[in-house]
Amino acid sequence: MNTFNDLYFEKRLNIAWRAKAVVDAFLKHFPVPSLVYDIGCSVGEFVKEFNSRGIKAIGYEVSTPALKHLLCQPNDVIIRDWSARIVKGLPKPADLLLFFEVAPFLTDNQQRKMALNLVNLTKTILTTSPEECAKYFLEKDFYEDFLTEREIKNTLEPLGHKPAIKSLYRSLKVYRKL
Ligand SMILES: C[S@@+](CC[C@H](N)C(=O)[O-])C[C@H]1O[C@@H](n2cnc3c(N)ncnc32)[C@H](O)[C@@H]1O
Repeated sequence: MNTFNDLYFEKRLNIAWRAKAVVDAFLKHFPVPSLVYDIGCSVGEFVKEFNSRGIKAIGYEVSTPALKHLLCQPNDVIIRDWSARIVKGLPKPADLLLFFEVAPFLTDNQQRKMALNLVNLTKTILTTSPEECAKYFLEKDFYEDFLTEREIKNTLEPLGHKPAIKSLYRSLKVYRKL
């Protein structure tokens, strides 16, 4: 059975409240972005939160059942698998790209293709991804911005113990390219 089914996305709605606190924390430590991409956006809570602040955000999803449970506008989510192949003719680069809890569901080869696509989509990646993707970010001239990571985590610390935020709070990584 596919993990990312109706039931999965229905349950995901329970943690959507976190988007406000998390986006507050991001915006405290980054310049206000003009365009945000959320790769593996699930029910689109981050997309909704950015858009509600007048910041254009687009979510990318591979699982069509997510579309039935979206919190954001349907037009703000595109069904696309960035891990299927290395893409030429990419959309406009985003100022900020979110990539949370997707990589663990990808094979090493998919992670490689995903990472090589993502590095051409933005200069700032916020992720919880493990080493496999990070290795490619670093190879493609990104560096880990430990200072901003620490600042965001400090801001999120009062909520860091909550189940909805815990994994993001603990494993958040910021990769940037000059
Ligand atoms: C564990 S959920 C995380 C959702 C969200 N990013 C979060 O942190 O709450 C993983 C999501 O990534 C999506 N996903 C998995 N592989 C993907 C791919 N190759 N391209 C886009 N989305 C993908 C799944 O459909 C699912 O919605």
